[in-house]
Amino acid sequence: MKVNLKPRAMMYPSPAVVASAYDEDGNADCCTLAFATMCSHHPPAIMIAINSTLKRKTLKSILYSKEFCVGFPDISQVSEADYMGIASGYDTDKVKDVGYTTKKAELVNAPVINEFKASVECRTMNVVNIGSHTQITGEIVNIQADEEILNDKNKIDFDLLNPIAWDDVSHSYYSMGEKIADGFKTGLKFK
Ligand SMILES: Cc1cc2nc3c(=O)[nH]c(=O)nc-3n(C[C@H](O)[C@H](O)[C@H](O)COP(=O)(O)O)c2cc1C
Repeated sequence: MKVNLKPRAMMYPSPAVVASAYDEDGNADCCTLAFATMCSHHPPAIMIAINSTLKRKTLKSILYSKEFCVGFPDISQVSEADYMGIASGYDTDKVKDVGYTTKKAELVNAPVINEFKASVECRTMNVVNIGSHTQITGEIVNIQADEEILNDKNKIDFDLLNPIAWDDVSHSYYSMGEKIADGFKTGLKFK
């Protein structure tokens, strides 16, 4: 029997990624986001959503600089990622607190967190207020990845990246598990 539940924001799987931007004084802000996903192939783009009612410093910095990065922590970095989602840049330097470092991205004026093995560099294309959150669409103009997570075709290997999944209902982090099938192939048996 199916049961009706109270509406809430939900998506499975949700990521745990870290958005970063420079503030007006050039300080690197960052915060953890579960509201983040792809939204266009051409141009390559992602969208993130940040709570606009709760005064997130990273939101202010992204709206100011119009450029940002999104880094992909791996499962070994879950405590650092969690901290970036608990503390605020209004109170402390989160990157320094966890012993991480930043550098300016290649093609945008936004900080890349060096310790994340993959990061995308984005230019803001569109900003929309949706209820409690501001949704920002960013064109991906560059991707930085550590060589160690690339396969022999020079593409990011999902298993080597080992990204984190987030369950917003239980507030828990998960690893992603095993590959189960080949995409655009396993469904062909129904054709
Ligand atoms: C796993 C996780 C996911 C989060 N996802 C979001 C999100 O998608 N949007 C958002 O506004 N805040 C999200 N947060 C909360 C912010 O990361 C948090 O409020 C952060 O302290 C804001 O920092 P800032 O003031 O330095 O920008 C998340 C926190 C955690 C731990």
